[in-house]
Amino acid sequence: MKKTQRKSNHAIASEWNNIAKFRHQQITKENDLSYNYVLIPSILSLIKNEFNSKKNLNILDAGCGTGNLAYQLSKRENSCITGIDISEESIKIAKETYGNSRNISFYSSSIENFSDNIVNKFKYDLIVSNMTLMDVSNLDNVVKSISSMLKDEGVFVFSITHPVFWSRYWEYENSNWFNYLEEIFIEAPFKTSLDNSEFITSHIHRPLEMYFHSLRNNNLRVTDLIEPMPEREIEEKYPKSWEFPRFMVVKCIK
Ligand SMILES: C[S@@+](CC[C@H](N)C(=O)[O-])C[C@H]1O[C@@H](n2cnc3c(N)ncnc32)[C@H](O)[C@@H]1O
Repeated sequence: MKKTQRKSNHAIASEWNNIAKFRHQQITKENDLSYNYVLIPSILSLIKNEFNSKKNLNILDAGCGTGNLAYQLSKRENSCITGIDISEESIKIAKETYGNSRNISFYSSSIENFSDNIVNKFKYDLIVSNMTLMDVSNLDNVVKSISSMLKDEGVFVFSITHPVFWSRYWEYENSNWFNYLEEIFIEAPFKTSLDNSEFITSHIHRPLEMYFHSLRNNNLRVTDLIEPMPEREIEEKYPKSWEFPRFMVVKCIK
């Protein structure tokens, strides 16, 4: 693991292209405990009210990867789901796997370009984004784009690695290059609790205030925030017990 220079969208897309097939298998075979048992249930819990309403919902999954969450959301009647991701390979897999569902469309695009090019400035009722904001090169541009694609009173729910605890979990908080208050691009082989890999991906450490300021500056008001922990029987499947929250899931209203 090492600190690197800022990376471009192009460089980030290429990392996720390389790992797309591996990630798809991890998720669909339920080898990613946190994805299946902590993150997605937390996102679903924060959109429960919107989901249980009878309203037609246009939903965007921003940074949808290989499309699994978009597919889960498509099971709600009266929903129209769009999944976008900068990784062409991820979108190719998403289309092959879930593209036949009548109410899902997938596009390969950065969030920033998608919002610039969206037809007739179409706006969404709900935008979700699982584990993407800590992987985007320019947080402010992405949050601005997300806000611009939401209707007034629209809802944005996202999960990220926990800004305070992730450095402890990945054991770099005492590295001489780490400073909590700085934005730091970090490159490492991708791993989950049950799987190591040789695929290099980058994540960006950002202090909590950076997320908060970006949301506030783009008219997104935080209305809920959870630091989910796994149920006990799920925690037992992890090699290491959870001493602190590893993720943060946030709900905002425009
Ligand atoms: C950790 S993965 C999460 C993928 C998916 N949400 C999931 O839960 O499996 C981060 C994703 O963000 C995408 N990404 C990074 N920067 C992006 C950007 N500017 N616009 C759209 N997608 C981006 C990457 O291609 C990658 O698929």
